[in-house]
Amino acid sequence: MSSKLLAALRKGAILGASVCALTLCTWGTANASDYYDQFGGKAGITALINTFVGNVANDPHINYYFAHTNIKALKYNLVQQVCMAVGGPCKYTGPSMTDAHRGLQITTAAFNYLAQDMIDAMDAHRIPIGAQNYLLSLLAPMEPEIVTANGPLG
Ligand code: HEM
Repeated sequence: MSSKLLAALRKGAILGASVCALTLCTWGTANASDYYDQFGGKAGITALINTFVGNVANDPHINYYFAHTNIKALKYNLVQQVCMAVGGPCKYTGPSMTDAHRGLQITTAAFNYLAQDMIDAMDAHRIPIGAQNYLLSLLAPMEPEIVTANGPLG
């Protein structure tokens, strides 16, 4: 799992634990459809993906990867994928992660920059930290299917 995602999960664990100590909340026990609600349903996820893709487009570390990408199709597939992942009533029908990223020479560093762009988007939309961690924990295991190249940092 990428160190960026692990760091993000740790941050959430510490924040979540301290908030729960104060409030006796049941952090960590939400079910998948609770997370869909916490992402604001389909409208919230659509807004989140728009911000995320905007962040990627403005990120000079990785935006060149997307120079020839059909952004409308990418946004549609990302909304469906995230909506399904967080327990929403959507079905992802796009390519497998291996097929979608084949030959793109994506490095671990690029993966981590993209993860940070997603974290920034979730922060901007005030997604609760437990819901953020839930999505990140589902995206992190996809790394081996996406990262296919070594860069200067490995
Ligand atoms: C967990 C992380 C990631 C997820 C969930 C993800 C998801 C997706 C999905 C669903 C598609 C298919 C879109 C379509 O065919 O319309 C796609 C395509 C693409 N992804 Fe990712 N991606 C991830 C990481 C990355 C990273 C790190 C990069 C590069 C920095 C990247 C670059 C691309 C590009 C360039 C395409 C378009 C390929 C094409 O035009 O055929 N992705 N991604």
